[in-house]
Amino acid sequence: MCLKITYGKIYKVNPKCTHLGCLLNFNRLDKTWDCSCHGSRYTYDGKIIYGPSSKDLEKIED
Ligand code: FES
Repeated sequence: MCLKITYGKIYKVNPKCTHLGCLLNFNRLDKTWDCSCHGSRYTYDGKIIYGPSSKDLEKIED
């Protein structure tokens, strides 16, 4: 699980790429989750921006 505080809100997502499972890095400049394995990118709250993945990140509920 990973917490990110962005724009004053807390977003909890599993930082595991939904393509083949690589660990994501948080890009502080663009506020995105970036996968260094094959290039998928997600918004700070886990929505897919572009693939090869086509699924959003798993959200962690309270
Ligand atoms: S494992 Fe992340 S893009 Fe392939």
